[in-house]
Amino acid sequence: MADDLITMDDLTNEQIEALLKDAEKLLPAAKGDVYLPLLEGKLLGNMFFEPSTRTRMSFETAMKRLGGNVVNLGALASSSVTKGETLFDTMKMVDGYCDVAVLRHPRQGAAQYAADACDIPILNGGDGAGHHPTQTLLDLFTIKQAHGKLNLNVVMVGDLRYGRTVHSLSHALSRFGANLTFIAPPALSMPDEIIEDLKASGANITVSEDLVSNLPSADVIYMTRIQKERFPDEDEYLKVAGIYKLSRKDLKDVKESMIIMHPLPRVDEIHPNVDNTPHAAYFDQAFNGVVARMALLCFLFGVDISKEVGK
Ligand code: NCD
Repeated sequence: MADDLITMDDLTNEQIEALLKDAEKLLPAAKGDVYLPLLEGKLLGNMFFEPSTRTRMSFETAMKRLGGNVVNLGALASSSVTKGETLFDTMKMVDGYCDVAVLRHPRQGAAQYAADACDIPILNGGDGAGHHPTQTLLDLFTIKQAHGKLNLNVVMVGDLRYGRTVHSLSHALSRFGANLTFIAPPALSMPDEIIEDLKASGANITVSEDLVSNLPSADVIYMTRIQKERFPDEDEYLKVAGIYKLSRKDLKDVKESMIIMHPLPRVDEIHPNVDNTPHAAYFDQAFNGVVARMALLCFLFGVDISKEVGK
């Protein structure tokens, strides 16, 4: 991999497959059953310019479970960002302090900009409505753990326009031969340039507005939150808020093995009565953020997991 992870194009299919295998081997360490201080002495900078629970905490957990350490930008109000410091200057600081940094930023392209400014590897923890490649690693891991393969019928639902998780995931899944169904209202449809890109690389894509008719053939339903914060106008948000909701009663005709995923946080897309069905995979998915990021960090620092953990 290039040193930085900005989009899934920075990883080859072979590297992705190797990361998924490594992640599986790291499960006992992620759960705290064994302590593997493979990254002792390494320091990660958590640079979050937008809210985050899972991405920030799972990177921190991953680093600490591997004996490494983390420094956080912390609340924006208590950083020099409020004094008008530029992203460039802030990233130059972390470049000196840390061995690797994760950046989440509201502006699309910010991660690439930071990577150009820094010598240390920059991991894109979400850039506006752009990409979220480390989420994709944990999403792929979750699908692989459940189904043993990635060439499946995957239905992505909700805000496909502003949702960065589905941008990165659709790219990756198409490379592994998945059939993708995109379900969104016209105002939130998958951007044309992404669809064209996916089709150009041979992806099999179906576009629809109807969730219910697409449930029976799905192996994976990937629900997303309507990205309220990215709407230029609150009225536009209100027109589509709450448009797709999945509840236990909708699951009558689904495949037994079908899993429901969500990058979280959910608002009202998945009713809590789905949580204790065998289809709900979103909490496991969130936990998988730890192993997937552990595998990625080891890879970045050149740690050979097979040698350390065995076959
Ligand atoms: C997602 C994000 O930030 O893009 N959250 C996450 O990282 N798990 C999804 C979202 O905010 O809707």
